[in-house]
Amino acid sequence: MGADMNSINKIPTHVAIIMDGNGRWAKQRGMERYEGHLAGVESVRSVVRAAVRNGVKWLTLYAFSTENWGRPVQEVEAIMQLFCRTVIGEGEELAQQGVRVKILGERTHFSAAVVEMIERIESVTAAGDRLTLVLAFNYSSRREMMLAVRDIASRVAAGEMAVEDITEQSISGALMTANMPDPDFIIRTSGECRLSNFLLWQASYSEFYFPEVLWPDFDEEEFDKALRVYAERDRRFGLVTEDNSNEIHGQ
Ligand code: IPE
Ligand code: IPE
Ligand code: MG
Repeated sequence: MGADMNSINKIPTHVAIIMDGNGRWAKQRGMERYEGHLAGVESVRSVVRAAVRNGVKWLTLYAFSTENWGRPVQEVEAIMQLFCRTVIGEGEELAQQGVRVKILGERTHFSAAVVEMIERIESVTAAGDRLTLVLAFNYSSRREMMLAVRDIASRVAAGEMAVEDITEQSISGALMTANMPDPDFIIRTSGECRLSNFLLWQASYSEFYFPEVLWPDFDEEEFDKALRVYAERDRRFGLVTEDNSNEIHGQ
């Protein structure tokens, strides 16, 4: 049947991608891990183009977890440099494509220069209204939740908030993702089937897809393929569809 790529009829509002497999990609070619990360930047450009073309409104890319600080110092350094270079170099081009950039993650770890660079790309692209590109960098979902709990608890302790006002909405609003929609579709490349501390609260009803392809090989065509997989999914959110309810009642 296969709807072609111009006729995907159910486009997710928010796609989130755990970009995994750069190290293995490099190793397979006898290269340094760093070169896998470098090649992965091209995949980022491809998925941004494909997201804009398909009318996806939010694209979140998991680029660096808080756990990744534990990698060898040379690799961490290389990723930091690559991130900075990319963020500095791509602002204009992204703005032209109508892409607004947001960085998701704690900024306390970064030097003043890096924070300034992050603020610059956010402001240069602030008017973008076709796609919001969220780069999760120094992100940890558990830490995000812990900080939200602290924030809510201190508001309650200060008498600014009643215990009954702690709702799912107020918890969502205290997270770093406060003004983002939950991800509809989470893709993790390289065949690994885990979240690795990514959007745990927000993913409660996300659809998941784990293609074998390594991140540097994930291109526009792979993104379109993923959207076709999503379009086939039946999201029920705990409810029953008309057809199912008939079956249950044996009609
Ligand atoms: C993903 O690729 C990029 C980051 C985590 C920064 P990896 O570096 O995890 O690649 P593999 O999983 O070792 O192949
Ligand atoms: C998850 O990948 C983090 C990012 C893609 C940024 P990892 O490669 O760090 O995760 P694990 O160690 O395989 O769970
Ligand atoms: Mg990995």
